[in-house]
Amino acid sequence: MKKHILVATDGSDTAMQAVDLAAELAAKFDAKLTIGHVHQFGRPAAELSRMAEVEHIAEHVSRETQVDFRSLSGSAGDLFGPSRPKGDVVRAITLVGEEVLRRAADRARDKGVKDVDTATSQGDAADAIIDMAEENGADMIVVGHRGLGRLRRMLQGSVAQKVTQQAEVTVVSVR
Ligand SMILES: Nc1ncnc2c1ncn2[C@@H]1O[C@H](COP(=O)(O)OP(=O)(O)OP(=O)(O)O)[C@@H](O)[C@H]1O
Ligand SMILES: [Mg+2]
Repeated sequence: MKKHILVATDGSDTAMQAVDLAAELAAKFDAKLTIGHVHQFGRPAAELSRMAEVEHIAEHVSRETQVDFRSLSGSAGDLFGPSRPKGDVVRAITLVGEEVLRRAADRARDKGVKDVDTATSQGDAADAIIDMAEENGADMIVVGHRGLGRLRRMLQGSVAQKVTQQAEVTVVSVR
């Protein structure tokens, strides 16, 4: 049976390394690749800004949401901050997530993966990643060992830890 890899990305540099490794494996073994993202509703504005600041995603999203990014006080945090209407924040978070996935999928195709799919979910990130893998019939999960969080004393992020401990399939945590 064809192998199926699920790689999870929060848009962080480490997650992109995970996408690269997963794509290389999928290309080499002609496996299907699903790239999953869990919408970060309720995460701190600072984390969301870090995600949006990757490769001008914020500018893209401000165009889409009709929020003039240049007129805001210079930080992507303003897209997600408490001063913005809740509906706008939800929309911005959704669009950033979709853009993260679109770019990751392009990258995987560039690496030669023929069968690339994307999936989104919400809720607890680790639970959602494990569920996405199960629902899609993936037999391996690839995550980064860290993400957008900034707790440097942690060796491995909480999402990576929980997925590694609780998934029933092989998990690769990329450093
Ligand atoms: N919302 C998400 N959607 C998809 N994948 C995610 C998400 N959050 C984390 N991941 C995956 O888990 C990996 C590790 O991120 P994790 O969140 O565990 O670390 P962190 O952000 O540094 O720490 P913490 O979130 O505990 O503060 C990421 O590289 C990514 O592969
Ligand atoms: Mg995190």
